[in-house]
Amino acid sequence: MERIRNELTDYRGTGMSVMEISHRAPQVLELLERTQEKIRRLMGLAGDDVVLFLQGGGSLQFCMVPMNLSAAGDAVDYIDTGYWAAKAIDTARQLGRDVHVAAKNHSAIPLALNVWADARYLHICTNNTVMGTQWQDIPASPIPLVADMSSDILSRNIDVSRFALIYAHAQKTIGVAGVTVVIVPRKTQEMIQPGLPSFFDYRTHAVASSNYHTPPVFAIYVVECMLDWLEQEVGGLKAMETLNKRKAALLYETLDASTLFRCPVPLGSRSMMNVVFDAVNPKTVPIFCQQARDAGLLGLEGHRARSGFRASLYNAVTLEDVEALTRFITDFERRYG
Ligand SMILES: Cc1ncc(COP(=O)(O)O)c(C=O)c1O
Repeated sequence: MERIRNELTDYRGTGMSVMEISHRAPQVLELLERTQEKIRRLMGLAGDDVVLFLQGGGSLQFCMVPMNLSAAGDAVDYIDTGYWAAKAIDTARQLGRDVHVAAKNHSAIPLALNVWADARYLHICTNNTVMGTQWQDIPASPIPLVADMSSDILSRNIDVSRFALIYAHAQKTIGVAGVTVVIVPRKTQEMIQPGLPSFFDYRTHAVASSNYHTPPVFAIYVVECMLDWLEQEVGGLKAMETLNKRKAALLYETLDASTLFRCPVPLGSRSMMNVVFDAVNPKTVPIFCQQARDAGLLGLEGHRARSGFRASLYNAVTLEDVEALTRFITDFERRYG
């Protein structure tokens, strides 16, 4: 945010703000190219994997994935692990896909999958933002694996070669709302269906280097700033993962030691990004919320679909932020436990 503030009225010596520059100007074309390269480098993508910057959020990808990778009536497989995975399933059904659910569990990561060999792809949500569960290991899939990484992309080192497609909106771990990153490896480009309206066809955006229509330039610029921070200040993806693990471990340890709060998510399913927890006695909820707010600890309310509490520990949350929260919980425990 400090870099953005400093560059806001003069983008790299142009005398213009990045908000004012035409999306056809060389500076923006270079921004698109550089940001793509940085994602490629950080994630270890192959040279012919396409990286796209699209709009429409994770929600538009719930449509574009079935449209591009299957035809109406085709069998597609989904793992239903929570609120957003279920929305992806609903959308595929609305588009007339024959959705098979390989496993369903909203409170823990499923242990076994029943994948349909005839399905066009298997869709997985790697981190379940609302339920606070996360796949620690990516499951083996006999069919092309598609991942919604909206709430954990670039938060940990992951073997990208396992995926036939990855999508993630930027606003949680790598930027602000307005841009969605989609990674389409070469092998998947051959699966894309003919006859799609141009806008919905990944190839349209690939051929135009994400400049088919006006791209969300400012949001992409913020992603570049975040990637620079991740690479230069954090020290790369492995260092980011180590830090994220420390943050999550500290908070889970504090909750497990508490008599007032409990985390309902079993050990092997716990998310590093979204720590959900509940009050043992509901009467403590308003007191905790008020005192947390007074202490400057904001945004701890759970998602409306789950209630309880949720601490989101995305990349930008520091270890010191998490320490402030754990100190507060420990102190609250001492006073009310
Ligand atoms: C995992 C996941 N997928 C998809 C979405 C929907 O994304 P959007 O609001 O960008 O459409 C969300 C929203 O938080 C999410 O957490």
